[in-house]
Amino acid sequence: MLNPIEPTLIKSASELARWSEGVRSIGRRIALVPTMGALHEGHLSLVRLAYRHADRAIVSIFVNPTQFGPAEDFARYPRDLAKDLEALRKVGADVVFAPSVEEIYPAGDATWVEVDRLTHVLCGRSRPGHFRGVTTVVARLFNAARPHLAVFGEKDYQQLAVIRRMTRDLAFGIEVLGAPIVREPDGLAMSSRNVFLSPRARQQATALHAALHEARALVRGGERDASALCHEARRRIEKEPLAEIDYVEIVDAESLEPQRQLRAPAVLALAVRFDGTRLVDNTLLEAETP
Ligand code: PAJ
Repeated sequence: MLNPIEPTLIKSASELARWSEGVRSIGRRIALVPTMGALHEGHLSLVRLAYRHADRAIVSIFVNPTQFGPAEDFARYPRDLAKDLEALRKVGADVVFAPSVEEIYPAGDATWVEVDRLTHVLCGRSRPGHFRGVTTVVARLFNAARPHLAVFGEKDYQQLAVIRRMTRDLAFGIEVLGAPIVREPDGLAMSSRNVFLSPRARQQATALHAALHEARALVRGGERDASALCHEARRRIEKEPLAEIDYVEIVDAESLEPQRQLRAPAVLALAVRFDGTRLVDNTLLEAETP
């Protein structure tokens, strides 16, 4: 065990705010790492990054009901706080904030936080209301944790872009850091939802990473036409019998607007269902001029 510190478990938002005020008053920097638990190495990499930019780290663990659609997997989302606390011992978080639903959404509340435009594309099209749930919970977590900075993974690229927009627009005064995608040895992006994949689906899901890898190679070879690149990526994924494509798109890295001709920086983003489990992945495409 590198750093066998037991994190302090806090369940109340006001207690967390008091803890943060205490840390701020002695001039220390606080990072927040929001998660829904079922922690894996991807999450732990966010905590490690947090400690490179802050003195204290809060990891929140909250399966947020408002970001799940009625037909989505809220009820069966994996929950195991004891296991998550054990995983966090590897990185030594200072505080784990694990509130109840009532703590985050007190009875009678009526306020949503909603980002326009960026939420109408990609995952926003197939998951109506999802990003409204994400921005609402993240705003509430920001207010409870009062961090100097917050860390989010590039795996959920659109989520990161939406949160950056919200943080700027509402002038939270919090620095948002993006962390690189952590992958399994065979290339599959780590995700708490990977446990839902059957062995066959798990094997076929490596096509996502393969399609992104091939697209990068085509760009290096001079391809700049977004629809040609998307077509090739689709073809690669459709070779897998269980794959059902939700979208394969190339968008501007900041505005998320669709691109026809590759201009740097652009992102190839995809969402694919395997046996009903929806996976997302993406890659930056650098169309640097030769
Ligand atoms: P969750 O899916 O638990 O992810 C928590 C954070 O870990 C997110 O910022 C996500 O992008 C990051 N992450 C997940 N897998 C990763 C990987 N393989 N590599 C790098 N980072 C990874 O995303 C959410 O929870 C929720 O929407 C949340 C932001 C907590 C709001 O409820």
